Amino acid sequence: MEYTVKSGSPEKQRIGCVVAGVYLSRKLSPSAKILDKASGGLISNLVRRGELEGDLGGTLLLHNVENTLCDRVLLIGCGKEKDINTKNFREINKVLASTLNASGATEVTSYLTELPVKGKDLSWKIQQSIEAIDEKLYKFNQLKSDQKPPRRPLRKIVFSVSGRGQLADGEEAVRKGMAISTGILLAKDLANLPGNICTPTYLARQAQNMQKQYPKTKVSVKGEKEIEALGMGAFMSVSKGSRQEGKLITIEYKGGEKSQKPIVLVGKGVTFDSGGISLKPGASMDDMKYDMCGASSVLGALSACAEMQLPLNIVGIVPAVENMPDGIASKPGDIVTSMSGTTIEILNTDAEGRLILCDALSYAEKFKPDVVIDIATLTGACIVALGAHPAGVMGNHNPLVQDLIKAGKTSGDRCWELPLWDDYQEQLDSNFADVANIGGKGAGTITAGCFLSRFTKKYHWAHLDIAGVAWKSGHNKGATGRPVSLLVQYIVDQLPKS
Ligand code: BES
Ligand code: MN
Ligand code: ZN
Repeated sequence: MEYTVKSGSPEKQRIGCVVAGVYLSRKLSPSAKILDKASGGLISNLVRRGELEGDLGGTLLLHNVENTLCDRVLLIGCGKEKDINTKNFREINKVLASTLNASGATEVTSYLTELPVKGKDLSWKIQQSIEAIDEKLYKFNQLKSDQKPPRRPLRKIVFSVSGRGQLADGEEAVRKGMAISTGILLAKDLANLPGNICTPTYLARQAQNMQKQYPKTKVSVKGEKEIEALGMGAFMSVSKGSRQEGKLITIEYKGGEKSQKPIVLVGKGVTFDSGGISLKPGASMDDMKYDMCGASSVLGALSACAEMQLPLNIVGIVPAVENMPDGIASKPGDIVTSMSGTTIEILNTDAEGRLILCDALSYAEKFKPDVVIDIATLTGACIVALGAHPAGVMGNHNPLVQDLIKAGKTSGDRCWELPLWDDYQEQLDSNFADVANIGGKGAGTITAGCFLSRFTKKYHWAHLDIAGVAWKSGHNKGATGRPVSLLVQYIVDQLPKS
């Protein structure tokens, strides 16, 4: 989709459609009022007769409105004016996208940028609009033989700004919004690909493509030989159970000064999680192709940051494996030595995410990080605790956790803290090794966090458990691209204030 900004009055737009809001009950937004006046009261008449109340999501599409230069006027119900928040602002923009994608209008001007959202400025509204519209129009059809695009799809959306003085800010917001949205799109596409296509090798190749696209990025890929040589016994204990070679992918984006410590993102890249010898039950096992959503969100966030050319240093580390039950796969009771030297008793081969992450987290030390954030579809227990709305967040440095929670609120891609108290650590006691890879009954998300915390003592660290938010199951099954938006917001918030 092409996005731009423009200032000017709605009746003067020579375009396929002009979009304006109507609040409950039958209250016209400023632009709807202007169109109403131009047309001699057409809109207020229709609204009075009950054509549109202003309920959230209601629509009224008008053609050839007198004294306007546009082909159509789309009025969208916005609910109560004072109740517009992040969630329904996005919802209203999705209604714009779905209604107009099937209308024949290919270029439209949106005056929804004038809707009041408490505490949010024009830039935020433009960015959120782009994310919401792209999300609504996203389809994953690459693997269908019969791809039917709409005959006249929406091609261009112009966001109205209130004066020429706002054009520069608006254009900057469009650039940012499109960069983030492209990152989300990349994350979704990678995640939606099936396990037989999106293998560790495939992920590595996608990362290498980023290096071609963005000159400030450097990508390195290590195979199992090198991973073994690094002493990553925990990583290898998972990877050896699959015929697909495991990869350790590192993407360095160097946008800042050389001396500037990087933000390091570590993404769990299990391209399929069968559970290994502790095999998962068959029902919806196909969902486990999404067990690389930490990895895809790291690639998405990095490509967004590179696209925006942020003056920061950012490193993405992706341990990528397939968790399978081969003849030489790890067995319950096996003990392995991690890169840090900590020995781990693998009591359940299905708790594989933490095994690859712990070695990747030790590896992260070499970048002398400012902070390290890992992102993982780590525990089913996180879905039990928090459902599908926030990701779980834990960490060893409260300011970092609070920054992530704040970035979640701003972006609408929220996370919620769980208590990473020492009290839980003893659940990981092992009779035979330094630590067990499962914590038994109770607080499964926290004990997974506790496990990782043993490998992150040398830096400020936070962990995002995205098991509940990375994809939607059921009827509209598909990746969400979360938490790309949260990560990019967090990173943008770290920019020195000018
Ligand atoms: N990838 C799964 C976690 C998961 C399960 C995410 C379902 C989303 C939906 C992870 O590797 C796993 O299997 N975790 C186990 C841990 C347990 C063995 C301690 C789990 O959650 O059951
Ligand atoms: Mn598992
Ligand atoms: Zn897993």
